[in-house]
Amino acid sequence: MIAFCILAIMFATHASEPYIGDTEPLVVHIEALEPAIHGPRVTGTTPGRPFIFLIPATGEAPLSFAAQDLPKGLKLDETTGIIFGAVHTAGKYMVRIEVRNAKGHASRDLAIIAGEHMLALTPPMGWNPWNVWSRDIDDAKVRDAADWMVNSGLAAHGYQYVNIDDCWEGQRDANGVIHSNERFPDMGALADYIHTKGLRFGIYSSPGKETCAGYPGSLGFEQQDAKTYAEWGADYLKYDWCSYKVASMNLAEMQKPFEVMSEALDACGRDIVYSLSQAGTANIWEWGAALNVNLWRTTGDIRDTWESVSGIGFSQVGHETYAGPGHWNDPDMLVVGWLKWQKGPTHLTPTEQVAHISLWSLLAAPLLVGCDMAKLDPFTRDLLTNDEVIDIDQDAMGKSASRVAQCNTITVMAKLLEGTFAERWFNREPQAWGDVWARPLGDGTMAVGLFNRGEIPGVIATTWDVLGLEGPQPVRDVWRHKDLGEYDSSFSAKIPPHGAVLLKIGRPALRK
Ligand code: GLA
Repeated sequence: MIAFCILAIMFATHASEPYIGDTEPLVVHIEALEPAIHGPRVTGTTPGRPFIFLIPATGEAPLSFAAQDLPKGLKLDETTGIIFGAVHTAGKYMVRIEVRNAKGHASRDLAIIAGEHMLALTPPMGWNPWNVWSRDIDDAKVRDAADWMVNSGLAAHGYQYVNIDDCWEGQRDANGVIHSNERFPDMGALADYIHTKGLRFGIYSSPGKETCAGYPGSLGFEQQDAKTYAEWGADYLKYDWCSYKVASMNLAEMQKPFEVMSEALDACGRDIVYSLSQAGTANIWEWGAALNVNLWRTTGDIRDTWESVSGIGFSQVGHETYAGPGHWNDPDMLVVGWLKWQKGPTHLTPTEQVAHISLWSLLAAPLLVGCDMAKLDPFTRDLLTNDEVIDIDQDAMGKSASRVAQCNTITVMAKLLEGTFAERWFNREPQAWGDVWARPLGDGTMAVGLFNRGEIPGVIATTWDVLGLEGPQPVRDVWRHKDLGEYDSSFSAKIPPHGAVLLKIGRPALRK
């Protein structure tokens, strides 16, 4: 691994000047008046179950929508762009969607796949309140988040789920039916409110007697709870391992409670994305998909510090083989924007935030925003709505990135200077070191992230060899929407500490 990167850096140092993007903003925002369609290119549903999908689209208002070849059972609202109904028959339907305004029109294919267990065919994108509101959550705050999901423009770029985390739970009645507490007077009405915007609604529970915050969990009431969630109109369940006791930590016992809820969701009559939160215990990535789990947490709770984000993000090595359409690794929520810990903006610097979102997109991670949506500042909005970055995350092939090279620049410099001079000069542990992560995309190109994990600016490089590419290749900086030209066999960039450059390398195969 290290050898690759040393070679890469030596080669790049001699071959061409490293790319330095620091004369430009970290993130470039495009505000086009012409219509454009964004977000996932594939979505799934079970025949006969309610389906809702908002076509994510931007451009000068008013927009109007059209769809050709919708499967029987689905309808499009031409003014809102909401596709709704229930598909009659299993199959793969290529729907041509179109959006128009006074400036022009745009169209592209959306694959709707109807069958058993066809949920979360791309990583879920949305919002979860835990990292901003924690226990202090109520109906008004969730409605507010749904409003801002639309008003901020996030929904127009593919963000879809408005989820509730812990602390909504009230008591069970004499029949064992769970009710929401006084902060959520009518869960069904809240779900309806979210659905009228074309968005999807998420709920939370735990397999134990109590949730992590001490509210009633689902133990012994799994079928009943799944039925209640379906009646309310839930589209997503975060099932959080707390208070469930296992006699031994053997695999079958660990899996049991998740299997029980999986079967309950299957039987509940509604499509509910199944998200497990159990801090990455028992190598869940190895068995989650077999239980029809759509996403599983691979780590403990994230914080808005570089230590937390980089510690979680870069330790995902090896998990990539377990991710794919319908079953994703979840390295936890995005810690950008206005958060709870200091009741203010994230502790991450803008540079670190670019590295965070770059890595999560490469990992095909769910993009669940955890901030106060009403306080979305322009930088955070631009960070979350860069369509080229979202396209990497949402790529329909669903291959998660792997780390293809790792290096530390002290070693590299010592090598280049042919001695231990550099090591003595710095006289400490390596300060600048880098990772290269890459994933193949469905259009035949590679998404590649060059990361500087160190404390000083560094040149991080990759060669076509480690990426499996041959011959001259076009390189594009996706955060800045900028073609950088053709490179023969390697690419290097000077990157600030804790920063990243996110690239698309290669020629897209023709797409109809
Ligand atoms: C756990 C989860 C968090 C959040 C809380 C709620 O810590 O990992 O994401 O859901 O519980 O109590």
